[in-house]
Amino acid sequence: MLKNWSDVYSIGIAEIDEQHRRFFEAAHRLYEGILDREGRAAVVEAISFMRDYANRHFQTEEVFMREHDYPGLKDHLRQHAAFFRCLDELENDLMIFGPSQDLAERALDITQDWLIEHISDEDMLYSLHVKAERSGATPA
Ligand SMILES: [Fe+2]
Repeated sequence: MLKNWSDVYSIGIAEIDEQHRRFFEAAHRLYEGILDREGRAAVVEAISFMRDYANRHFQTEEVFMREHDYPGLKDHLRQHAAFFRCLDELENDLMIFGPSQDLAERALDITQDWLIEHISDEDMLYSLHVKAERSGATPA
């Protein structure tokens, strides 16, 4: 199911929240591209946009986590790497089997739904770490 960006997903860091909102948009564009059977070129373009956007976004997060000496950096980076592996598999299946409702749902699952889970489980942790650091408390 398509879900719109909502403040519920905010981690309280404006630049990253804005990127997450755009990540949702890229996920929706990919889903709709597959579902509307826009053709191979359009789907390949939507995947490549999603990959580039995720790459830029993950780099922003990585720089931010390093700046704040976030202790969970390595685990977090592993999750980002896993995202790209799922996207590669999806692209591969799209090339072999062509667009379908099933592949559109899978695309939404590995992009939009993955992001929602990743925000609440992982991104929230570094946000809490930074907030604790700023308030002078011992970081989590
Ligand atoms: Fe992340």
